[in-house]
Amino acid sequence: MKNIKEIPVRQRNIVLIGFMGVGKTTIGQLVANKLSRDFIDVDQEIEKKYNMTIPEMFQQKGEAFFRQAEKDYIVHLCEHTQSKIVSLGGGAFKQEEIKRACLQHCTVLFLDISWENWKQRLDELIENRPVLHNRTIDEMKDLFEERREMYAFHHTRVDTDHLEAEEVADDIVDALKLG
Ligand code: S3P
Repeated sequence: MKNIKEIPVRQRNIVLIGFMGVGKTTIGQLVANKLSRDFIDVDQEIEKKYNMTIPEMFQQKGEAFFRQAEKDYIVHLCEHTQSKIVSLGGGAFKQEEIKRACLQHCTVLFLDISWENWKQRLDELIENRPVLHNRTIDEMKDLFEERREMYAFHHTRVDTDHLEAEEVADDIVDALKLG
């Protein structure tokens, strides 16, 4: 495969970042269908590789193990693939190497949501998100704001507030065509 730096913008992987529960997987899958591209959910790939769920991995192996697996998987993906739609875990951009590889080799889309809207989804997402366990709502808000600063490193911001996943996916496809 030729040096990935030479890959034209339109063939680069499209990477979705954003806070837990914003809809990266659902929206990513829809965008992939609309563009007839392969979809990769990084957390699901890690779960398959290690044959355990993310909460099990946090519990049995620890967060550091998960972060290493996450970094290895994403950096390799950025450097060796193209034309994929990729959904990242919400904490992936904490790692400088992941952030750098994605921004250099891929088109990074930040799926944004307001705190008020996100808060309403909490009940349905908390169980499978170990990072949220044992945090008060104020601590979750602090994390939400901290992460938002981290997501500031992106190519395009996509607003998801008051939109169905399908509408967001259409917005993304339009933005990619215009871009
Ligand atoms: C995490 C987000 C999760 C998953 C893991 C850690 C985080 O992914 O990678 O539980 O630190 O924000 P989603 O953003 O898909 O929920």
